[in-house]
Amino acid sequence: MVRIVVAGAVIREWGGANRVLLAQRAYPPHLAGLWELPGGKVEEGESPAQALERELREELEIEVVGGDRIGDAVPVGDDLELRAYRARWVAGEPVAVEHRALGWFDDAEVVRLADSGEMVPADVGWVRELVDLLRRP
Ligand code: CDP
Repeated sequence: MVRIVVAGAVIREWGGANRVLLAQRAYPPHLAGLWELPGGKVEEGESPAQALERELREELEIEVVGGDRIGDAVPVGDDLELRAYRARWVAGEPVAVEHRALGWFDDAEVVRLADSGEMVPADVGWVRELVDLLRRP
């Protein structure tokens, strides 16, 4: 059975540019140090939006509301399917509960992370759509 993994793009205007919140993974070893849209596996009985809201509450201590899909689903191995969503920030300042670090990245910085191999491979598939969102006024 394929498990759905949801990942959220929280976007905020800050320092004169739109920025997306990315998180640097601490595990597993082959992904440690790489940046991702934070999220996790959908549990039984949850909608993807509920899973996203729970995961960001657990991992970042922020409250969000799950929004529109971003880009296409990305298969990871034989058993995971990743989906990205907009996540509208509601409350809380992000804290790295499970991640090594957190950062707010503008369009050029997102492209640089992807090009330099510092982004989780699956998430590179969403860079074009993320950049389009970040360049919107
Ligand atoms: O915390 P949980 O086990 O629910 O999920 P996770 O470890 O955050 O994500 C499960 C797997 O999905 C990771 O090991 C990655 O392979 C993949 N993933 C990804 O490629 N990109 C993301 N933005 C989030 C997860």
